[in-house]
Amino acid sequence: MPSANTLYSSPDLYDLFSTGVPGDTGYFARLAAGAGRVLELACGTGRTLIPMARAGAKVTGIELAPDMFKACRDKVAAAGLERKVTLHRGDMRRFALKQTFPLVVIPYRAFQHLLDVRDQRACLECCREHLTRQGRLVINLFDPNLNILAANLTHHGSAARNVGSVKTPDGGRITALATRVPCPEEQYVVEDWVFEKFDRQGNSQWRKSRVFSLRYFFRYEMEHLFELCGLRVEKLEGGFQGQPYRHGGEQVWTVRR
Ligand SMILES: C[S@@+](CC[C@H](N)C(=O)[O-])C[C@H]1O[C@@H](n2cnc3c(N)ncnc32)[C@H](O)[C@@H]1O
Repeated sequence: MPSANTLYSSPDLYDLFSTGVPGDTGYFARLAAGAGRVLELACGTGRTLIPMARAGAKVTGIELAPDMFKACRDKVAAAGLERKVTLHRGDMRRFALKQTFPLVVIPYRAFQHLLDVRDQRACLECCREHLTRQGRLVINLFDPNLNILAANLTHHGSAARNVGSVKTPDGGRITALATRVPCPEEQYVVEDWVFEKFDRQGNSQWRKSRVFSLRYFFRYEMEHLFELCGLRVEKLEGGFQGQPYRHGGEQVWTVRR
């Protein structure tokens, strides 16, 4: 098993570089407004949770990493949304909230942190238990791109790719370079992101490495997993802007109990 997801001990770095999938915050906000109440699993620092609350929904969030949880709580307070939001520090593989929801969401690949089939099933079964009879579960995953996976295998890990460069208030910048090591037997990749802070003269001030692992799921594997957990597929879309499902893009699943 790979080491822990250390990216989530640095919510500030997460927020700078993890900006989501195009259109996702608006998509979840519209769904949440329509449903009235929503449960978000692995809500992180509130990137999708806060827009759902701002759209008028009552939002319950579950988050495991203490630093992400605290950052989310602080942002909810700063936005004056405490009355709309309930946060629990907890694990998406095992939770019991004693209430059901018309909408449960797992945005931005968070489900892909569950590397083990038992954990995936435990999470989906918990989701099912927390859905109302007509309720919907929406999960976003990336669709494994066979070209990228094959290229990484050939090189025993990818070449470093530039994730981005963000200006800081002191006139400097923080850059992020990522490498990916695949484990095809277990169907996951380990991402190693190296962040580097430069001052306004371009001198390096610090470097930090943060890792995380993502399981990849093929389309019909997900269909089987849902069926095994008592969930039926309503639709599979290829993104948040009405795209059809295509290889190597996004998987946006809507399932019901
Ligand atoms: C990619 S982030 C997504 C955060 C947020 N939903 C967003 O869209 O920005 C994944 C989150 O999953 C959380 N996480 C990982 N495993 C978890 C688990 N077993 N239970 C709850 N949260 C978990 C991480 O701590 C992290 O905050």
